[in-house]
Amino acid sequence: MRKKVTKAIFPVAGLGTRFLPATKSVPKEIMTLVDRPLIQYAIDEARAAGIKEFIFVTSRGKGALEDYFDTAPQLEAELRKKGKDDLLDILKNTNMDSGAIAYIRQHKAMGLGHAVWCARRLIGNEPFAVILPDDVIAAEKTCLQQMVEAYEETGGNIVASMEVSPEKASSYGILDIKEDMGSMVAVRGMVKGTEPSNIAVIGRYILTPRVLSNLNKMKVGAGGEIQLTDAIAAEIEAERPVYGYRFRGQRFDCGSKAGFLQATVSFALAREDLRDELAAFLHTVTAEQKAAQ
Ligand code: UTP
Repeated sequence: MRKKVTKAIFPVAGLGTRFLPATKSVPKEIMTLVDRPLIQYAIDEARAAGIKEFIFVTSRGKGALEDYFDTAPQLEAELRKKGKDDLLDILKNTNMDSGAIAYIRQHKAMGLGHAVWCARRLIGNEPFAVILPDDVIAAEKTCLQQMVEAYEETGGNIVASMEVSPEKASSYGILDIKEDMGSMVAVRGMVKGTEPSNIAVIGRYILTPRVLSNLNKMKVGAGGEIQLTDAIAAEIEAERPVYGYRFRGQRFDCGSKAGFLQATVSFALAREDLRDELAAFLHTVTAEQKAAQ
């Protein structure tokens, strides 16, 4: 029997420089798509996949993120008094059970690999998920749920992957594929900036605790940071399996402005209360833009 994946790490200690000046005082993960912060999408996805322990790797200035998961007694009492049950339900979804959530501090932004390593003592000797909240994935069955199901079949390390265009490949880790099995690919190597395939790694992982041991020895890699990709690649070198998983769903890169805007429009168009008004507006602005060209 494989050990169940019940712990997830949310590395949220980055500086978020692409969203300055907003991220000077607002954590990127609190920025909202329509009316829900990025972190809420990530938490909902993890819950649906059976995650019970939520480990946040945070840094200076992320206090708003910690407060987000607390109960808000005054606000709740007010809503109750006014009979606003629908809003109370929405709020309930943001609360976490006592002890389900832990915050670990990354003292210095030394890279994603280092951020994950900071949570090593809370993970212990168990498989774990890593979710980057900047990657928001719209899917019927959540991406992490799909990956957990794949993990139950194959074990090993699994990284979410998707096809990217050649001009975008340089900003991703790219998979060198040993065997293509459809939704899963067996990985021979992981490289940055070159193109053995057009299959890129995105921000969902299910990893074995060995990856944390690999991080114990990790040196600074590409971009002067300790890379998670290097620690996963070390598993391949040790002849342990690493798979890419082609998830079903649409991923938005909300770490970039263009991706964030696309996600905002897409999620708003999926909402009954906003769809008609927004679609009419988009229609008008695109027509005006075309006419001006
Ligand atoms: P990014 O590469 O998007 O960096 O990190 P960033 O700092 O968030 O944003 P930019 O590039 O400056 O705009 C990917 C994920 O890894 C986390 C980030 O919080 C984000 O969720 N991360 C990155 C850490 O937790 N610690 C780090 O040292 C680096």
